[in-house]
Amino acid sequence: SKMTTMESLIGLVNRIQRACTVLGDHGGGDGGALPTLWEALPSVAVVGGQSSGKSSVLESIVGRDFLPRGSGIVTRRPLVLQLHKTEEGQAEYAEFLHVPKRRFTDFSAIRKEIQDETDRMTGKTKQISPVPIHLSIYSPNVVNLTLIDLPGLTKVAVEEQPESIVQDIENMVRSYVEKPNCIILAISPANQDIATSDAIKLAREVDPTGERTFGVLTKLDLMDKGTNALDVLEGRAYRLQHPWVGIVNRSQADINKNVDMMAARRREREYFATSPDYGHLANKMGSEYLAKLLSRHLENVIRSRIPSITSLINKTIDELESELNHLGRPIAVDAGAQLYTILELCRAFDRIFKEHLDGGRPGGDR
Ligand code: GDP
Ligand code: NA
Ligand code: MG
Repeated sequence: SKMTTMESLIGLVNRIQRACTVLGDHGGGDGGALPTLWEALPSVAVVGGQSSGKSSVLESIVGRDFLPRGSGIVTRRPLVLQLHKTEEGQAEYAEFLHVPKRRFTDFSAIRKEIQDETDRMTGKTKQISPVPIHLSIYSPNVVNLTLIDLPGLTKVAVEEQPESIVQDIENMVRSYVEKPNCIILAISPANQDIATSDAIKLAREVDPTGERTFGVLTKLDLMDKGTNALDVLEGRAYRLQHPWVGIVNRSQADINKNVDMMAARRREREYFATSPDYGHLANKMGSEYLAKLLSRHLENVIRSRIPSITSLINKTIDELESELNHLGRPIAVDAGAQLYTILELCRAFDRIFKEHLDGGRPGGDR
C-alpha cells in the first residue's frame, strides 16, 4: 500500500530521530545541528501519578502487551519507544538500542528485557535512573510515533528509597515535558478527585495554555457506584484545548488472567457503547480513539513545523557534509555510517517535502 506523503514525512522524522539516538548525540550539547534536530522533532510523553495507568495506556496505543505494569513503582527508567510503521504483511519485531543486532519477535521477552535492563542500572531496588531505555517497534499495525513512558509522580519515599526520590522523579519528568515539542499525555485516574491530579498540576505548570496537553482519564470502571466523570470528560471540571479522553484499561485481575489486548479493546468499546453515562460520547472515548487523536495531532504539529524542520534539516545536511568531508577528523566507522544514514534521511525528507510542495497543496494531503 502506498503511504501518504504525510505518513512518509512522519516516518522519516521518526527514523532521523532514531539515527540521532543511535549516534548518542541528542541532548549531548556538544553543539551542532543534530541535538537541536532531535529536540525539534515532536514526541509524546506520558505523565501521571504512580499506578494511574500510564504504562497500560501506552500498551493500548501500541496494541501489544510488552510493558511491565502493576502496583507500586514499576517504571523506574524512562522508556523512549519509537513506533515505526512498516508495509502491510511485514512481521512485527522490536529492537533495543542497548542490544544491537538482536530482533525481538516475542513481546513477553521485550517486557523481560525492559525489567532486566532497568535492574542493571538500578539494582533490584525501588531506585530510579534518568538514563533512558530506547526501544523501537517495527510493525504494520502502528502509527509513526515516539512515545516516552516515565516513572510515576509520588508524594512519599517508600522503603529503600532516598528521601530525595519524590523531587528526583518530578525533575526527571519535568525535563521531558518542559520541551516545547513534547506532547503531554496527562493521565489521571477517574477514581481520584481531578483537583488532586499530579499530571494536571505538572502539565498546567509547563503548558499553561494547554495546547500540547491531552487529558486522559483512566479507571472509569473503578468509580464509585452512582458517580460518573462527565464533569471532567465534558471539560467542565478542568478545561483543556484538546478534548478529554476516557479509558478503561485492563485491571490487575485481567492482567493476572492474561486477558489479551484485542479482548481488552473489545471490552473497552462495549463498555462505552453500552454505558448509560458515556454512551453519547462513545465514539470519542477509548484507547483506539486516543491513538488516532494523537497521530492526527502529530501530523498537524509536523505540518506546522515543516518550515523550521526543513531549515534545520538543511543546516544538518550542510554540517554533516562538511564533517564527512573533513579529512583532519577521523571518526569511528559506526559513527560515520550513522552520519551517512542521517544525511540520507535528511535528504529524503527534503526531497519528499519539496515534492509535496510541488504537488501544489502544502499540508493538504489528507
Ligand atoms: P502506571 O504505574 O501509571 O504505569 O500504571 P500501570 O499501567 O502499571 O497500572 C497500574 C495498575 O492499575 C495495574 O494493576 C493496572 O491493571 C491497573 N489499571 C490501570 N488502568 C486501569 C483501568 O482503566 N481500570 C482498571 N480496573 N484497572 C486499571
Ligand atoms: Na505502577
Ligand atoms: Mg508504569
